[in-house]
Amino acid sequence: MNAVSRFSIAGWCIALTILLSSALLPGCKHEPFATDITDPGDTTNVNPGTPCDPQVVYFETQVLPILQSNCALSGCHDEASHEEGIILTSFTRVMQTADIRPGNASRSDLYEVLVETRADKKMPPPPRAGLTQAQISLVANWINQGAKNLRCDAGAGPCTTTDRSWAQHIRPIIQTYCLGCHSGTTPGAGLNFSTHTGVAAATTNGRLYGAINHQQGYAAMPPTGTKMPECQIMQIKSWIDAGAPNN
Ligand code: HEC
Repeated sequence: MNAVSRFSIAGWCIALTILLSSALLPGCKHEPFATDITDPGDTTNVNPGTPCDPQVVYFETQVLPILQSNCALSGCHDEASHEEGIILTSFTRVMQTADIRPGNASRSDLYEVLVETRADKKMPPPPRAGLTQAQISLVANWINQGAKNLRCDAGAGPCTTTDRSWAQHIRPIIQTYCLGCHSGTTPGAGLNFSTHTGVAAATTNGRLYGAINHQQGYAAMPPTGTKMPECQIMQIKSWIDAGAPNN
């Protein structure tokens, strides 16, 4: 204690951080993220060519795109901003930071904030659009199924691209991958996708397709994460080619 009395605690932290390895000083340093969370997707991965089971919620293709377009935004829960320490950019980060209780959605913060009724606790915070009921159910089902990172071969099943309906097929894709950024008071590029009219307007001159197909001359969409699965892109293309109907 004699030594301590000669320095402020902060002074000790600085001095010791310089002298010693950070491993000896967990309290003085911003806690590093735990690295011992293994990715169950690596061990329970299904064989390529195995089609997706419609009863199973697949994190990478069904849950992550929702988080990326609604939550993992700059100023919110991307790596740099990490509001409240929560980062929703990948499976590993979600498991490390979002207080997921596998098998118990109603006790998991990630789900609780989606169904929260108090405006100051609800996520995404107003005036951002909340998630749709279908998206909230997906998150709940994923947690209740054990919050795993199962993978399937989305390309192995049939991909229907004919007679695509706005309401049945296209709107859910837009809601999953785009709506978080393209809604509210300041949507990306001024394009608001809350309505059919808004999406249809963006399809002119190959703009929307150019963006999702990552063509040169267009901003690649979604801007974070990977390109949408080929089947989703082909369905949107077929709908645009049919005149982007409100069907
Ligand atoms: C993370 C936020 C975010 C997501 C998710 C997102 N966008 Fe965007 N989008 C933006 C921003 C920001 C811009 C303006 C970027 C720029 O011009 O560089 C933009 C621009 C665009 C443009 C104009 C591109 C151009 O070059 O003219 C289109 C079309 C578009 N987005 C469609 C989509 C579609 C379709 C999706 C879903 C598949 C999507 N966006 C998902 C934020 C997002």
